[in-house]
Amino acid sequence: MYRTHTCGELRIGDVGKTVTLSGWVQATRDLGGMTFIDLRDRYGITQLVFDMDTHAELCRRARKLGREWVIKATGRVRERASKNPNRPTGDIEIEVQELEVLNPSKVPPFTIEEETDGGDDLRMKYRYLDLRRPPLQRNIIFRAQLALETRRYLYEQGFLEIETPFLIKSTPEGARDFVVPSRLNPGQFYALPQSPQTFKQILMVAGYDKYFQIVRCFRDEDLRADRQPEFTQIDCEMSFVTREDVLQTFEGLTRHLFRTTLGVELPEFPRMSYDEAIRRYGSDKPDLRFGMEFVELDELVKGQGFSVFDQAELVVGICAEGQAPHYSNKDLKKLTEWVQRPQIGARGLVYVKINEDGSFKSSVGKFFSDEHLQRWADAFGAKKGDLLLILAGEADKTRKQLAELRLEMGRRMGLMQPGDFKPLWVVDFPLLEWDEEEQRFFAMHHPFTAPRQSDIPRMLDGDFETMKSLRADAYDLVINGAEIGGGSIRIHNRELQEKNFRLLGFTPEEAERQFGFLMGAFEYGAPPHGGIAFGFDRLCAVMQGQTSIRDFIAFPKNNMGRDMMIDAPSPISEEQLAELHLRLVDLPQKD
Ligand code: AMO
Repeated sequence: MYRTHTCGELRIGDVGKTVTLSGWVQATRDLGGMTFIDLRDRYGITQLVFDMDTHAELCRRARKLGREWVIKATGRVRERASKNPNRPTGDIEIEVQELEVLNPSKVPPFTIEEETDGGDDLRMKYRYLDLRRPPLQRNIIFRAQLALETRRYLYEQGFLEIETPFLIKSTPEGARDFVVPSRLNPGQFYALPQSPQTFKQILMVAGYDKYFQIVRCFRDEDLRADRQPEFTQIDCEMSFVTREDVLQTFEGLTRHLFRTTLGVELPEFPRMSYDEAIRRYGSDKPDLRFGMEFVELDELVKGQGFSVFDQAELVVGICAEGQAPHYSNKDLKKLTEWVQRPQIGARGLVYVKINEDGSFKSSVGKFFSDEHLQRWADAFGAKKGDLLLILAGEADKTRKQLAELRLEMGRRMGLMQPGDFKPLWVVDFPLLEWDEEEQRFFAMHHPFTAPRQSDIPRMLDGDFETMKSLRADAYDLVINGAEIGGGSIRIHNRELQEKNFRLLGFTPEEAERQFGFLMGAFEYGAPPHGGIAFGFDRLCAVMQGQTSIRDFIAFPKNNMGRDMMIDAPSPISEEQLAELHLRLVDLPQKD
């Protein structure tokens, strides 16, 4: 037998028992006549003691054990003389009588502790060692619990978990596809699904009215902290539902997950239209843990001879409460440089400090009198000690820039507390987005999203401008400024779907070739349906107050989309290429 208990299990009540533990050597300490070993597994750490007086040979062998060796030890549980209150097993230790080395280990390339000295690449290469560290173990265990509770809730609501294929057909909408060559069909390719969208809709036509799947999705897009090329969704679809039914069901799921895994009761889930979110926060995923709402100043500031404002499409600002005393001229210069960085791209920053004595200090003091500045302060509801930060320019860009500045100020002011959760449903997204460069519409969510019921006649008959104003029956769940999920009520009749493809620039032949199977299915009794998908990795990270999803995925890819452990992607042999009817041309030189 390898073990009677785990390394996190024994307590003072077990004193006197003879036990066997197996695990990894975390640390060895020699103290004169005694040798101590911290033995670790995923459940915790237990201290082993070897006594030179009573077990000299064992003690000598214990001293030779290295870090991360795998051992088995048998001995008696005894009360510790000096207890460790920071460890659940800290009241006891094992007086070892038998020791067996199960497998030695090389010296690990970085420390396997709460904090490690290993760089990113090294940790990715030796992922199995990094995964032994407690922070990663906590994340991976949390993820497993979250998956279990998701299944529990959805099964109780009558959902069926149904698998959909990974080898499907490439489609032009959305992100880039990962493609897989077909050996049996020369010159033809499968694509890995960006999501099971069309299959789940087909399942609705097939009568499986409540579907879900915890499913891998693949998107060949540029990577960021909250994006991986393969990631997981909690994907759902329901028949005979309105938007309200979907929102209620998935608000219920979210509440259940927070309650059962974190013991957190979420506050209400307010609803905000896309337009309102953009106007108040400059973003369709506002972080509602703090206010600092946008105030539009055009009427107050234009026509006073300050050309930056006069020429701007929009002048808009935020009020950073109590920050005036904390921002010297030098700090304000640095903040201006921050908004001017290419990532943000603002041309400049106008500030107004409201000093404690009620006087103003402003970067545009030359152009505006104190009476003017007072009117601005009133518009913000600002008080003494506050700092107004104002941007001007083209409306969409300026809002985006100010949204970044708002988040930065929120961070600096400590307003984004990780344990504070503020959910929000963003609703009424535009159906179509006009792309100036490509001179065509894109679907804001995806091409299967239905317009709001009241917009259907306008969609079927309207002109170009009308199309820009159509609203979709689409919704996003946002928590703490992260887009956790998105979904919509779908189009379920052929005519409207064809019209949507036409608007998106498909010829009827292309639409038929790409999506004929779906439109065909709509002709055989498609029920009204809708659904949503949560980003499972993102949900894990947000619930744990983190921004990167990488350490919630056991084997993630790096920023170049590489798996550093198995060294993928990698070249394949000429034979394999030939078998797949592929030939490489003009391969870029690797340096
Ligand atoms: P969408 O494309 O909005 O919708 O994706 C749903 C959610 O998946 C997460 N997500 C990602 N997570 C990690 N890495 C990525 N590269 C990545 N891309 C997306 C986000 C996002 O909100 N079929 C529709 C859903 C529907 O309409 O039912 C879809 O895939 O959290």
